[in-house]
Amino acid sequence: MGNCLAVRIKAESPFHSASTSGTTSRNNSKNVNGLSGSSSKVSSTSVPPTPRSEGEILQSSNVKSFTFNDLRNATRNFRPDSVLGEGGFGSVFKGWIDEHTFVATKPGTGIVIAVKRLNQEGFQGHREWLAEVNYLGQLYHPNLVKLIGYCLEDEHRLLVYEFMPRGSLENHLFRRGSYFQPLSWNLRMKVSLGAARGLAFLHSAETKVIYRDFKTSNILLDSNYNAKLSDFGLAKDGPTGDKSHVSTRVMGTYGYAAPEYLATGHLTTKSDVYSFGVVLLEMLSGRRAVDKNRPSGEHNLVEWARPYLTSKRKFFRVLDSRLDGQYSLGGAQKAAALALQCLSSESRFRPTMDEVVSTLEQLQEAKDTTKSTPAQGNKDSNRKLANNGQRSRRRSSADVVNGKAAYPRPSAPSLSS
Ligand SMILES: Nc1ncnc2c1ncn2[C@@H]1O[C@H](COP(=O)(O)OP(=O)(O)OP(=O)(O)O)[C@@H](O)[C@H]1O
Ligand SMILES: [Mg+2]
Repeated sequence: MGNCLAVRIKAESPFHSASTSGTTSRNNSKNVNGLSGSSSKVSSTSVPPTPRSEGEILQSSNVKSFTFNDLRNATRNFRPDSVLGEGGFGSVFKGWIDEHTFVATKPGTGIVIAVKRLNQEGFQGHREWLAEVNYLGQLYHPNLVKLIGYCLEDEHRLLVYEFMPRGSLENHLFRRGSYFQPLSWNLRMKVSLGAARGLAFLHSAETKVIYRDFKTSNILLDSNYNAKLSDFGLAKDGPTGDKSHVSTRVMGTYGYAAPEYLATGHLTTKSDVYSFGVVLLEMLSGRRAVDKNRPSGEHNLVEWARPYLTSKRKFFRVLDSRLDGQYSLGGAQKAAALALQCLSSESRFRPTMDEVVSTLEQLQEAKDTTKSTPAQGNKDSNRKLANNGQRSRRRSSADVVNGKAAYPRPSAPSLSS
């Protein structure tokens, strides 16, 4: 289950009308905020118009449409013992299907899938479901979780993902128990780099998406601790033309949202950078972004840590004692300085995600030149992915929908009255 202490921020947000006439491309259309685009970086060859209505999103996505029965069979009737986790959207179940035919197979055969089932009534959940199909149905990158398909049947709304064997970063950082050993320093750095590459890809000129819900429960890990971002229900197209930001109602999760976004509703890629800083700080400290169980004065991680992070002599007090000194002081200092920079109150002082990726790569390289670790093989495979553009692409020549707003989770308590 998601971090029960990380309360979602709720607000109404407009969504483009499904009845919007005609099809438009993100780069030449107006969205709900009246932003207009100009040039297109997307290949000009046979680019289908960007879908805008629900039917168009579903038709153009490159994923499989499952029947409810398919997924009931794949999860053995949504057996309680196959629940992988629960979040604001609903429960996530483990299932098995044949890789080629997508037909349900016996547990242990075929490929493993994660099936997320919306358990809430109403339009908000549907909007979030649709945003996920819209973005993950078109974006492909090694650091984004792969959407295999969806189900839309009567009142049923489900999403089918590749199964991520090591679950969420949240579980690894904060769950206690024999299965969840404290993550080593090297793994924390590896996960940070993977997640940073995922965000950098989203922010790239080619993609231009603001993720808006960057937090540890949305970072999933494969068997080699490669990080992949999931949950695009709140994602939003970045500003186009000469606009510097997108205006939205405030949504996201307390503890992770950037101060200027909370104050004004102005959303930029730098809002994601702030959230990245919070997650990096969670990894360095082993503390949750918001934790009411800590002594007063320590509930909010950023507020508590900031005075230490600004001091070269005191920054180490922030570091997780379970790391047991596995880091070099210089490396830890650089990582702490990076977190502090991402958490700058003024967004213009925050680095871009490309800059964050470079810094984390340098940290990785410094580590690898001082000693050869078992993670060496992983480093090499990561290297091939270092250039975001190289192995990432949209799943089709179709562009991302414009004019799409995000949607609050129905159960989320409201920030504003
Ligand atoms: N593809 C997947 N493979 C393996 N486990 C998954 C997968 N997707 C989700 N999970 C598990 O299910 C849990 C619930 O995920 P979900 O995205 O519904 O909620 P959340 O991220 O915890 O909270 P929120 O609703 O605030 O986003 C995750 O924390 C993770 O442990
Ligand atoms: Mg999630």
